[in-house]
Amino acid sequence: MFAQIDQEQNRISFDYTNITKQSVQKDYDFHRVFGPTINNQALYDDTFRNTVARALEGFNVCIFGYGQTGAGKTHTMAGDAKEPGIVRLAVGQIFDHIRSNPQRMFNIKFSCMEIYDEKIYDLLHERNPVILMSDPKKKKLAFKGLEEHQVSSESEMMEQVAKGMQGKTMTKNYKHDHSSRSHTVIRIGLEMRDTRAGLDRVMVASLMMVDLAGSEAAHKNESTKGKAEGISINKSLLFLKQCIHDLASQKKDKSFRNSTLTRLLEPSLSGGAAVAVICNMTPVAGDFKVAVDTLDFGSSASKIDLGLLKQNVAGDNTEFHKLQELMQAHC
Ligand SMILES: Nc1ncnc2c1ncn2[C@@H]1O[C@H](COP(=O)(O)OP(=O)(O)OP(=O)(O)O)[C@@H](O)[C@H]1O
Ligand SMILES: [Mg+2]
Repeated sequence: MFAQIDQEQNRISFDYTNITKQSVQKDYDFHRVFGPTINNQALYDDTFRNTVARALEGFNVCIFGYGQTGAGKTHTMAGDAKEPGIVRLAVGQIFDHIRSNPQRMFNIKFSCMEIYDEKIYDLLHERNPVILMSDPKKKKLAFKGLEEHQVSSESEMMEQVAKGMQGKTMTKNYKHDHSSRSHTVIRIGLEMRDTRAGLDRVMVASLMMVDLAGSEAAHKNESTKGKAEGISINKSLLFLKQCIHDLASQKKDKSFRNSTLTRLLEPSLSGGAAVAVICNMTPVAGDFKVAVDTLDFGSSASKIDLGLLKQNVAGDNTEFHKLQELMQAHC
């Protein structure tokens, strides 16, 4: 066994003997650690339910999954009909909240993109190209060319999630048959109005969920295209890793401008959002170095201090749809 999991201490002890040929053990600490038997629902209830609840309170939220190819990132983020992942469970939580809070009015927008070889495409609209415009000072992002869907029911949003997932670029690599060849980005925009007396205010929040492509040994891919994709994925993840290390060590000048992914994540990682990172590992022999990379990434990410988050209270001129009524109309 090259790694020991201590779920009580939230610690993974890694045995470096297979890499250094010397018996060295290093401990990595995290906020939470789960063993191989955890399922998506239990993981969500333990950790992500609280994170998504922050979006319903008017805070921006960003969730992303990191790890080597085949480690289970897409299984965790997207899941399938049998075992829904974080995205579908988050949609369920949002609509449960709407149903049980009739005093709140909601306006919900949904979009789904992928970053493939540094370019962004709208997965819900014929892969239209999207241009990312960011204003790091204001911690804001805008997407030129992206069409957002006004959503009025849980089933409609689930349909959009499924459509987005079908459209993402996946193919066989040396590890498995459905490898993500791009970073998939799901954004749920929430505008919320509380109509109770004394509480009449408008809040906005963005919930962004990213399924990253996994780091891989690009040269192991058979096709030229596969090799090129692997190189592009690794490069993009390298820039992300650099930013995470810069943030963890509180470096003054951070390197967010180097890639589309880091530009996209910059507002969130600079204190503009509640951020939850999930790191997937697989206990496959021979993958020691990539396993260390994941441990290193996760433990650096868990040291980042995002400071105090700001609730997004908006002006009063937003148009609202009383979602409860729309939902009834859709039943
Ligand atoms: N916890 C799990 N339970 C059941 N099956 C799993 C689990 N994790 C992963 N798998 C299966 O392992 C395979 C690889 O998982 P997945 O596609 O999620 O990997 P990935 O990390 O997204 O890889 P890549 O970086 O190449 O996209 C899939 O067939 C998936 O269904
Ligand atoms: Mg994947």
